Amino acid sequence: MSEPVDWTNWLNHELKTPLNRMESLILSLKKSKLSGFSEQKIMMSLMSSLEECRSTIDSLFLFNKIQVDNIHLKLNHYDINTLVTQVCQDLDLVAEAKHVKFIIEAEPLFLIPLDEQLFKRALSNIITNAVKFSPNDSKILISTESINRKFYIQVADQGVGMDENELNKIFDPYYRVEQSSYIPGTGLGLFIAKSFMKSLNGRISVDSVKGAGTTFTMILDVDALEKINQLNEEKIDSSLKGEHAL
Ligand SMILES: Nc1ncnc2c1ncn2[C@@H]1O[C@H](COP(=O)(O)OP(=O)(O)OP(=O)(O)O)[C@@H](O)[C@H]1O
Ligand SMILES: [Mg+2]
Repeated sequence: MSEPVDWTNWLNHELKTPLNRMESLILSLKKSKLSGFSEQKIMMSLMSSLEECRSTIDSLFLFNKIQVDNIHLKLNHYDINTLVTQVCQDLDLVAEAKHVKFIIEAEPLFLIPLDEQLFKRALSNIITNAVKFSPNDSKILISTESINRKFYIQVADQGVGMDENELNKIFDPYYRVEQSSYIPGTGLGLFIAKSFMKSLNGRISVDSVKGAGTTFTMILDVDALEKINQLNEEKIDSSLKGEHAL
């Protein structure tokens, strides 16, 4: 059984690492007479460290939200393809640094009720992994399709892949495949993605071939989401009526 998540330690580690990096980058900027190019690189690194802090705070906030406030998912109608494109754009710089190319194959989909933050964070954790565990100059195919009132969002990479034994553990908190442990990370990204998808009544499946690549599939059940949305609206309606009655 996996150990429970100690969020205080996690937050401490996750925020201090990029903050320490930012401090040393700022110090090196202060000390040296750098060329424009080096300054540019330091600025990029500062920006990505800042983004890391922001994303850690977002994850913790969202995780708290689904644990404490599960019934108050913020559901609005969204076009999945727009959200997918936005997440890819947010991660473009990270991918570009490795010359990794995103290829999006989107089937036109109707709008569905979704909590934008939860969905985007889950997808972003999966695409971030695809970039992290892919070689330079490779491609990541991101596709969407709808079959029988279910939406499938697939992220297929040409990266290091995993064997069955490793695949069975990747959603456990803190688990990281030993072979790729030189790449930074906490082992919580997929655990968070799975929890967020579960709170949207969805799930994630994964296929992988060691040395060849991995495909993650996020599955959303349109009817289940419509149902949660309807219940939420009824709750809001009855609380409004309650207020008027006072
Ligand atoms: N696309 C992938 N290709 C190969 N291995 C992967 C892939 N995605 C996940 N893994 C393996 O699963 C492990 C767990 O992934 P997870 O996202 O939870 O943690 P992480 O990426 O190591 O750290 P974090 O997301 O917390 O920064 C990874 O460390 C890696 O070994
Ligand atoms: Mg990860």
